[in-house]
Amino acid sequence: MLLICGVSAVISVGAFLLLPVITGRVIDQIIGAGQVDFDAVIVLLRHFAALLATAAVFQWIMLVQARRISAGVAQDLRRDAFGCIHKAPLEALDRHPHGDVVSRLISDAETVADGLLQAISGLLPGFVTVLVTMVLMLLLDLRIALFVIVVTPLSILPARFIARRTRRHFQAQNAVQGKMSAFVSELVQNRAQVMATNYEERAQAIFDAENERFFKANVRATFYSSLANPTTRFVNGIIYAAVAIFGALSAVSGVLTIGSLSAFLAYAHQYTRPFNEGAAHLTQLQAAWAALERIYAVIDWPAEAADAPGAVHLTDCAGEVSLRHVSFAYDKDRPVLQDISLDVSKGAHVAIVGPTGSGKTTLMNLLMRFYDADQGEISVDGRAIAQIERGALRRLYGMVLQDSWIRRGTVRENIAYGRPDATMEEIIEAAKAAHAHSFIMGLRQGYDTLITGEDSLSAGQRQLISIARVFLAKPAMLLLDEATSSIDTRTEILVQDSLRRLMGGRTSFIVAHRLGTIKGASVILVMERGRVIEQGTHGELLAQNGLYGRLYKSQFENAK
Ligand SMILES: Nc1ncnc2c1ncn2[C@@H]1O[C@H](COP(=O)(O)OP(=O)(O)O)[C@@H](O)[C@H]1O
Ligand SMILES: [Mg+2]
Repeated sequence: MLLICGVSAVISVGAFLLLPVITGRVIDQIIGAGQVDFDAVIVLLRHFAALLATAAVFQWIMLVQARRISAGVAQDLRRDAFGCIHKAPLEALDRHPHGDVVSRLISDAETVADGLLQAISGLLPGFVTVLVTMVLMLLLDLRIALFVIVVTPLSILPARFIARRTRRHFQAQNAVQGKMSAFVSELVQNRAQVMATNYEERAQAIFDAENERFFKANVRATFYSSLANPTTRFVNGIIYAAVAIFGALSAVSGVLTIGSLSAFLAYAHQYTRPFNEGAAHLTQLQAAWAALERIYAVIDWPAEAADAPGAVHLTDCAGEVSLRHVSFAYDKDRPVLQDISLDVSKGAHVAIVGPTGSGKTTLMNLLMRFYDADQGEISVDGRAIAQIERGALRRLYGMVLQDSWIRRGTVRENIAYGRPDATMEEIIEAAKAAHAHSFIMGLRQGYDTLITGEDSLSAGQRQLISIARVFLAKPAMLLLDEATSSIDTRTEILVQDSLRRLMGGRTSFIVAHRLGTIKGASVILVMERGRVIEQGTHGELLAQNGLYGRLYKSQFENAK
């Protein structure tokens, strides 16, 4: 495509630059009143028209190709960056505000495309123009040509100086833009909390401050970059005037014809143009470069470490899980889990309780290998999970979280999310098992109802759908992290019951706040500040009368 672009640029620029030769000849055919060779003029005008048409057509081809190249590059960048989001460990995403990542992928990629378009469609023909006009001017008048050729490039020096200063401001501008999108997406996602905490005014103030910074960075960048073009133009204007005077003197002394002088002036003008515009293109390129750096920051995220050599592709397991002295920290100086050991036999139900921040979700993250333990080992069926392919390991588990993830799509698509090949019978069977079938049948289009926004289903109904999803996938083990926490009491009983069915015969890890729901668990772990401080069955723990006993009694009394 670049080749087509280059060839088209040469043809269109070449044809365009031959026009002054023809107008020069026409002028020389019009010597004075009654001294006009009309036949010659008409032939020349025909050539003129043909050249003009050629120039136009090839310029069009060049522009279309340039657009295709730049849009294609943006497409590839987005694809690569999006791919890197999937390959990156959860950690990388956790550390970046989501709106910022979005802005890098969408708007920064577009800035790169714009810059590239300018570079190809502006700089390429500019380069050809400079080369061709140089040759043509040298042919017309050696001395004046050398003057123009040598002096004009000097006009680019101030532009370069300016461009170097603007780069920083463009970087600042893009960074602020990323921050603003992060802030907006955060507030939009949490609109209800914003309203509930009367956060609007403070949010507005923060946003206004960022907006102001964006404005300033933008104005500063433009302040400098806008100087570039006028300065080069100014220098070139002086050069042009000098050429006109020298040329006129040569014409008077008969060295040049009037027609050649007119052609020469046209070339001098064409020759300086790329230098003027080059400055503007350079600014665009700088903005593009700054944007490119931001996208590459995402593309260069370290990928999740590859599966260990010889990692097995486990498709099924009995469900024996054991943890040996597992310790872990997100930030290496602040331990989160400390020395956790546990043996879970097939089909056992492990309940994990403890105050917020005690590390319950973190434990689940390690089981799923969203993060790797710093010390110790987790194994499934006696095999260290580091020796199991990540994808395979994750398929062994079904996960139900506090906030169910419902995608925009039909109910049916949402249930079949982990198994797109499932038949309608299987989907209905799973929905029935999850107690979701009857409410789905009550929806306007049953299984084909489109779920759009957050509010088209209640939290409980959404949870039933995510449970149906797990029923369909039939994983060997389950991770339930506060699966019933955000549910209204009316659906809670349904959800409880379908979870109970789901857990039947499956090794399960359950985090629950309402202790009444985990009484029957095979073992209850009581966590506090990353350690298991009590461990046993409901009865044993009550007898110990420790933290669990106190928590249970307080909930029980509140319930009364
Ligand atoms: N992605 C993370 N990066 C850094 N620290 C985290 C991250 N997730 C959780 N933490 C910290 O780890 C501790 C345990 O969190 P978590 O496992 O979510 O607790 P729980 O689920 O028991 O409420 C908390 O102090 C929390 O601040
Ligand atoms: Mg949690």
